Amino acid sequence: MKTDERILQFFAEHEGTYLSGETLAKNLDMSRAAVWKAIQKLTEQGHVIDSQHHVGYRYQSGKVLSAPMIKQLTHNDWHIQLLGSVDSTNTYAKKMLARGDVTVPTMIVANQQTGGRGRLGRTFVSPADTGLYISFALPLPIGTLVLPGLLTTGTAVAVSRAIKKTIGIELDFKWVNDLLFKNRKVGGILTEAVMDFESQQVSAIVVGIGLNLQRPKNLDATLENKVGGMVTELTVSRNTIVAALCDEFVKLYAEYTDGSFLTAYRKRNIVIGRTITVKYGKELVTGVAKAIDEQGQLLVDTGDDIKIINSGEVLKVQLPNDVYQG
Ligand code: BTN
Repeated sequence: MKTDERILQFFAEHEGTYLSGETLAKNLDMSRAAVWKAIQKLTEQGHVIDSQHHVGYRYQSGKVLSAPMIKQLTHNDWHIQLLGSVDSTNTYAKKMLARGDVTVPTMIVANQQTGGRGRLGRTFVSPADTGLYISFALPLPIGTLVLPGLLTTGTAVAVSRAIKKTIGIELDFKWVNDLLFKNRKVGGILTEAVMDFESQQVSAIVVGIGLNLQRPKNLDATLENKVGGMVTELTVSRNTIVAALCDEFVKLYAEYTDGSFLTAYRKRNIVIGRTITVKYGKELVTGVAKAIDEQGQLLVDTGDDIKIINSGEVLKVQLPNDVYQG
């Protein structure tokens, strides 16, 4: 590992702490001059390192998203692209994939979205600094099996694992793609396909994840009682959370088709036993959500028969008054 990478690693392990040049030099077995040089290099690369005379250096990872820091903290070799502000990371990812600019699995992260998109044409409020907006751009080698229902439910489990590891809270799921904490929506997943024009086949998948780590301010009246945040104050850096999420997603993507995560998904899903309204073909059907099957689909008992609902079709879930109703 290069000198600057070793320093970055040490900063990552001592988040939020001032480290003197001497401490860094001693622990990493290098000269003070080498430390100073490496810190200059890291600053030039875009890292924000606070330097206090007679105190030392502190990596300001808390507020600033940094691609090299995320890279340093992950345990996989997927590509990472960090954007300050973008309309939508999903739209961006789809464009890059369609143009052939992304040819290997890539995580695209933005600090802010000006046109964040949710399911069913909704918007996803995406202010700077308090949330995370991530799209996994996944080119599909010919013949790859894609099971969108399982990919979305599996992603929910991957996100919840990363949040448990880093923030320490347990998220609930509202089938199929809503992430809840304390009965408020704190995140959502939007899985989209990219079609190859010539072959008319799906050539890539984009899995978009939006998280309100802190509750967005100035929500409009319709969202006021529905949207929440995971924490009031962020004590873990977003780089750490993104890195954990990336690792969990990479693991999940390698094995999601076996559905082994479904036990965890079912355990924290709040929809089972509730009355829901779904679009089934051209009709609207109301029934009781009974179970989630092995493909991640919802089985709904309408009274006459059991309908099998896939991800695009739920319109309304009747939940107790204090629970987010999407
Ligand atoms: C939903 O709640 O309906 C899904 C929300 C998905 C939001 C994420 S944020 C990152 C990615 N880019 C988008 O425009 N949408 C997804």
